[in-house]
Amino acid sequence: MTTTNHAFNQIIAIDAGNNEVKLCIGSKLDKFCSAIADWHRRPQQEQHGPDDMEWEYQGMKGFGGTLAKIESEFGSSMYGVSKNHFEATMRILLALHRNTNEKEVYLAVGNPYDSLTKEVAMDIKSSLIKSHEIKVNGSLKKFVIKDVIVAAEGAAAFHSIPYTTELVRIIDVGSGTVNLISILRGRIIDIESFTTDYGMLTSKYGEASPFAIARGIIGDTSKKWKKEDKVKVVGGPAEIIAPFIKNHYGNTEIITPQIWTPDGIKFAPPIFSNVVGMYNLAMKKFSDLVQV
Ligand SMILES: Nc1ncnc2c1ncn2[C@@H]1O[C@H](COP(=O)(O)OP(=O)(O)OP(=O)(O)O)[C@@H](O)[C@H]1O
Ligand SMILES: [Mg+2]
Repeated sequence: MTTTNHAFNQIIAIDAGNNEVKLCIGSKLDKFCSAIADWHRRPQQEQHGPDDMEWEYQGMKGFGGTLAKIESEFGSSMYGVSKNHFEATMRILLALHRNTNEKEVYLAVGNPYDSLTKEVAMDIKSSLIKSHEIKVNGSLKKFVIKDVIVAAEGAAAFHSIPYTTELVRIIDVGSGTVNLISILRGRIIDIESFTTDYGMLTSKYGEASPFAIARGIIGDTSKKWKKEDKVKVVGGPAEIIAPFIKNHYGNTEIITPQIWTPDGIKFAPPIFSNVVGMYNLAMKKFSDLVQV
């Protein structure tokens, strides 16, 4: 599954999730463990997962993927309601290294809704828009990131389905956050949109039960959202959460993201909703800039 048009391979969307990084280049999709850890010497070069990575970047050395999750001494994945940090940059560069040999790329990336101010978007852009040299598992690649869109998580998923002017409520359940986004005529209603500081993996008691997280989401939205509103559920646990959301919001469905590739529309699982929406946005913005 690869896009056939070389030029469009330069347009890449990366959702640097707290738990898994998701990537979309046309019909090519990838996801891998988000963990990043410091490097140490391992006398036995055990393989822990298909996404094991040993990287070198700007004089630093580290592990990525499942290897980082297992071989980490000080916690393994940066969590939180912002993606404006070094680990997110590393996740994006690792995603690029794993998936492209293009020298010049145009990116769409994401950040949780509530923390995505103009300043944060500028900061994320300035850490990405430049030349990067990164070695992964012995292979050196050079990228020039030419331009970047920073999209709001949750809202990005709106662009993974056909456009509607109707009011749509998007519930993006992630591992560290839930983005609860209201969109009318394609525009976000800020007063009815939030990012929570909880997600599937933020409890000290382990992974949240779908019932408990749905109850939290309903509690947090029901002051502003009406029971009959159109609700769309996205994110990794969409399939297990949606039935509990539907108990309250009867008009609930799971988004099946649609990728607008040069070869036609392709479908993806709901965990890719944000990254597919970001890709569609990036295609709109950048397809005139890339040379066919
Ligand atoms: N098919 C599936 N069924 C049920 N749960 C799943 C499935 N796939 C992933 N998950 C769960 O989804 C959660 C991660 O979802 P997702 O990848 O959307 O989060 P993230 O984007 O990494 O986090 P955040 O949005 O907070 O940055 C994890 O708890 C994972 O166990
Ligand atoms: Mg997410």
